[in-house]
Amino acid sequence: MSISTLIAENQPETFSFTSESEAEIKQQIAKYPAGRQASAVKSLLYIAQKQNDNWIPMRAVEAVAERLEMPVMRVLEVASFYSMFNLKPVGKWYLQVCGTTPCMLRGADDISRCIKDKLKIASGETSACGKFSLLEVECLGACVNAPILQVNDDFYEDMDYQATARLLDELAVDNKPEFGSVIGRQGSESEDGATTLKAVKKTASRSK
Ligand code: FES
Repeated sequence: MSISTLIAENQPETFSFTSESEAEIKQQIAKYPAGRQASAVKSLLYIAQKQNDNWIPMRAVEAVAERLEMPVMRVLEVASFYSMFNLKPVGKWYLQVCGTTPCMLRGADDISRCIKDKLKIASGETSACGKFSLLEVECLGACVNAPILQVNDDFYEDMDYQATARLLDELAVDNKPEFGSVIGRQGSESEDGATTLKAVKKTASRSK
């Protein structure tokens, strides 16, 4: 995919960080030794995106580059590499469905099917109402509670078709339910409840 297809055609003329963002930027840059401020690039892009309704205009890419004394192209390379950064406007609810093997084996297809049935959108698209955008992504790092649907910054876990439908209905009326496991799993324990290695050992020795 060429980089131009990732970038919004309509760009705002200006961008400047708010005082709240400036305070966060200061904190982030202070984490790195002098001369290594470029290490804060992802943090600054995230701050810009958060400030700007979940997408990063080119003026913000330039502002980050200037702040970190980096070439604009290097900042753009980072922003276009990670799926967590949007270079085009997205809906209020940004849905990311994990399609990697553990989620796929646990029913990720049902989440995607439900989103397509209810919102009529495919990966990379925004719903007609403008409220939802969808992206199919690789492993979100929460495989143990697969399958995962990420909504903005939060993970909804152990999802199936019905749970996805309920969640979309709530989001449609701007009500964001509690995130986490929809079947109430705690601490990524087994679906049959907490267990220990001793129990596993007993089961293994009985089967010999
Ligand atoms: S495979 Fe989906 S979270 Fe890892």
